[in-house]
Amino acid sequence: MTTSDDMDVYPYSFEGTLQFPLALFESVPIADAQSKSGERFVVVAGLDRHMAEQVKHYSLDENDADLQENTSDKKRFGEGSYEEWYSKGRTPFALIHEESDSVTAICWFGPKPLGQKSMKYLSDEEREAGKKIDAENWHTISYRSYNPFRGKGHMRGFVQFCIDTYLKAYPDAKLWAIFNSKNEGSIGLAQKLGFPPRPDASHPEEHLVTMVRE
Ligand SMILES: CC(C)(COP(=O)(O)OP(=O)(O)OC[C@H]1O[C@@H](n2cnc3c(N)ncnc32)[C@H](O)[C@@H]1OP(=O)(O)O)[C@@H](O)C(=O)NCCC(=O)NCCS
Repeated sequence: MTTSDDMDVYPYSFEGTLQFPLALFESVPIADAQSKSGERFVVVAGLDRHMAEQVKHYSLDENDADLQENTSDKKRFGEGSYEEWYSKGRTPFALIHEESDSVTAICWFGPKPLGQKSMKYLSDEEREAGKKIDAENWHTISYRSYNPFRGKGHMRGFVQFCIDTYLKAYPDAKLWAIFNSKNEGSIGLAQKLGFPPRPDASHPEEHLVTMVRE
């Protein structure tokens, strides 16, 4: 069991290790989870079409100022193609609220060179060059929670479980994340997950901070 103050995660038992990435739109339930307030969730590896559509919908939500300000998701999932994003070797997980069948949070991983900025900050040339770089075992992690489930203390238990699951499939992966330095929630969560800031890999001119899991 993975546990945090507000979320307990109970993994299903599998024979062998799940191989990632899964096929596009394949989604495998991998754990039950329960919040301290008694709400029940399922953790899935991979998003099916319905889950991917929910993420697209959330990403286009202009009322979610935090999401719009701190992420490229409008471009990535809202206007962009989930299929194209997935084809970069991304491995998403989702926390599904059992009663409403809604995606409450996602977390994803994938090979990406240390410190490479997110799409929002890349020029067309940088984006093309980035596709050719060997990732040297660096894998990035990103996470989102969605209202009304944001700020409920679910994320540490959920994301820690996703990290553990991903690292079983990629035991040599070195994990890193990049955030807007004003994004205290993301940085606070990363610190709790064991990602201290890495100043030498940051982009101070653009207020970005890179954090590497130790
Ligand atoms: C960042 C985000 C994923 C955090 O999710 P959340 O639902 O708010 O997180 P939780 O309530 O589960 O809290 C997670 C942990 O981070 C800590 N935390 C949350 N906000 C914090 C803050 N402002 N400062 C320091 N720590 C903070 C919490 O104390 C908690 O730790 P705990 O479990 O030990 O108590 C979520 O706010 C989000 O998606 N925001 C909008 C988009 C975004 O910025 N995404 C990340 C872009 S990289």
